[in-house]
Amino acid sequence: MTAAMAAANAEAAGLAELFTVECGDATGFDVSRVDGVFCDPARRTTGTGRRIFDPRAYSPPWDFVTGLAERVPRTVVKVAPGLDHALIPAGAEAEWVGVDGDLVEAALWCGELAEVPRRATLYRQRGTEAHHHQLTGSGAAEAPVGPPRRYLYDPDPAVVRAHLVAELATDLDATLGDPSIAYLYADQPIRTPYARCLEITDVLPFSLKRLRALLRDRRVGRVEILKRGSALTPEQLRRDLRLAGDEAASLVLTRVGGAPTVLVGRPVD
Ligand SMILES: C[S@@+](CC[C@H](N)C(=O)[O-])C[C@H]1O[C@@H](n2cnc3c(N)ncnc32)[C@H](O)[C@@H]1O
Repeated sequence: MTAAMAAANAEAAGLAELFTVECGDATGFDVSRVDGVFCDPARRTTGTGRRIFDPRAYSPPWDFVTGLAERVPRTVVKVAPGLDHALIPAGAEAEWVGVDGDLVEAALWCGELAEVPRRATLYRQRGTEAHHHQLTGSGAAEAPVGPPRRYLYDPDPAVVRAHLVAELATDLDATLGDPSIAYLYADQPIRTPYARCLEITDVLPFSLKRLRALLRDRRVGRVEILKRGSALTPEQLRRDLRLAGDEAASLVLTRVGGAPTVLVGRPVD
């Protein structure tokens, strides 16, 4: 069926004479005939459709797929966004793709196609137009750490998965509040496609009692709850806060320097 659709697409695009569609086991294909390969291995179990988390259980198998990169000058492999960085072949570029804040896919670009070690590509739909932005880097840099500042940036999941938070920190002149948590803090609200920005009004060591009192004083009746590095359940916290009032606030549950902390703020438009 997929092969028939590929042939029909080539025909519809007027490219049929450039295509030969063959259906068979990919592991038996003679790749010496080609100078480029795109491989989208099956990442779900046949029958149950259950997601496969270990790439070694992909079909075709991982060793075959990554071995293609050694035999063909240009290889692209589609992979699960949760791929362990340790499995990325040396010299390959790993790209994570996000659409409107959701992490949707990842790919390895090998051989001549690798331009940088890590890339995050973000697509944003604005009305009828789609814009895209790309952040690149080594994926190995570490951002500086410091206390929370007036603006908090919540990086897009594709930036976090691509290990490009340090590169984003450089662009925003920002620091992490905790070396293991991907929230960035800066003195200025810089418009960026790579992160949401919140203006922080309060930083408290986490205490339900203190938070409840603060929100009551401010007449906050509606909250959005963001969290990284906190075991709290947002729904349970929202119930426990027993909110009342007309105001809205953003709550960020996190750790700062290892200590459970809650930040109160509002989105920067
Ligand atoms: C994630 S899907 C690919 C979807 C495809 N990119 C598309 O847009 O239709 C993986 C496909 O690989 C096929 N597959 C798994 N192992 C294979 C193998 N050894 N040789 C050829 N195809 C295989 C599966 O049957 C499945 O159709």
